[in-house]
Amino acid sequence: MLVRVDFNVPLDQGKVRDDARIRAALPTIKALTSQGAQVILASHLGRPKGKPVPDLKMDPVATRLGELLGDPVTKIDQVVGPSVDEAAASMKNGDVILLENLRFEEGEEKNDPSFAKKLAEPVDIFVNDAFGTAHRAHASTAGITDYIPAVAGLLMKKEIEELSRCLESPARPFTAILGGAKVSDKIKVIYRFLQLADYLLIGGGMANTFLAARGYNLGDSLLEKDLLDEAKSIMQESENSRCRLVLPLDLVVAEELKAGSPERVVYPDEIRGAWKVFDIGPETVNNFSTYVERSSMIVWNGPMGVYETPPFNHGTEQLARIIAQCRSHSIVGGGDLVAALEAQGLASKIGFISTGGGATLEFWEGKELPGISVLQDN
Ligand code: 3PG
Repeated sequence: MLVRVDFNVPLDQGKVRDDARIRAALPTIKALTSQGAQVILASHLGRPKGKPVPDLKMDPVATRLGELLGDPVTKIDQVVGPSVDEAAASMKNGDVILLENLRFEEGEEKNDPSFAKKLAEPVDIFVNDAFGTAHRAHASTAGITDYIPAVAGLLMKKEIEELSRCLESPARPFTAILGGAKVSDKIKVIYRFLQLADYLLIGGGMANTFLAARGYNLGDSLLEKDLLDEAKSIMQESENSRCRLVLPLDLVVAEELKAGSPERVVYPDEIRGAWKVFDIGPETVNNFSTYVERSSMIVWNGPMGVYETPPFNHGTEQLARIIAQCRSHSIVGGGDLVAALEAQGLASKIGFISTGGGATLEFWEGKELPGISVLQDN
């Protein structure tokens, strides 16, 4: 069988830097091999745009997967073609092989039917465990299902169950926390949570646009001027809904985004000239923690500041600790935050961490994801 996984992991000098997505696929791989399946794994890695790129070969991923499985994994240097056919024909029950990067092939992102058919040829069933890529209608997530029966893997099932909890019957009070640089990436999810949540806390660069829409002058800070009216409409909508929108009370500013840059904590009306906002301040962290502590369900997507450049990591890290300690069910939506949680050793204290970035946001927006809607047990 062909198992589509999302092994799009960060690499560092030819090694896997963060193996969370590989670990997340292990339950499906082990469940299949323990029942005697012959498992052919396929994933994309990066964005090579239909051509082989040596730095994006799957070899480091195969090495790490072999370490995690306790058995070396054979990696095939092709995605389709004679060496895949040969390897597939000589597999024994319980064997695992990993194909080359799907996106080395032009047909993958184009969802080309002839490429999808070739992918399906050596196997009789397709398992999609790549939740992180479920928002892409590619040959290995959608097209292939025209040729062989297609079902969800265990990770796909768990992601759908966990991420649906806040959409269907959230435990209340339900708090959604959104951060990250841009409002434009999250407009639809903001409107969705305005309908669903009791509290919507906004931090990170995207909060600047809301504060500017409230009339504050944020100096040289990042903000999306073309979205000021949208931000006003969102704030208006929150007034008419059950959901309270909560913005930062204080902010950390500096003149330069540089590790160790001299910073100061200010209120939004104190920002001058070349100062730029890079984090939420301590009063904001305290205020956000009061909402977290009174909630029964929390979802969080996007950092509160430029956490990878200290000292602008404090807001994100403190909020992470508060969420990890709270008693409510917490769900963290993939992307940048996963690395921040892992670095602090907090990942195991979070209720569920999604392996998706864009896919998680689109799922929460309420969009039908093409990689899910084509599955027989969707
Ligand atoms: C992700 O990292 O979000 C997924 O692997 C999808 O990758 P993509 O944005 O390059 O399609």
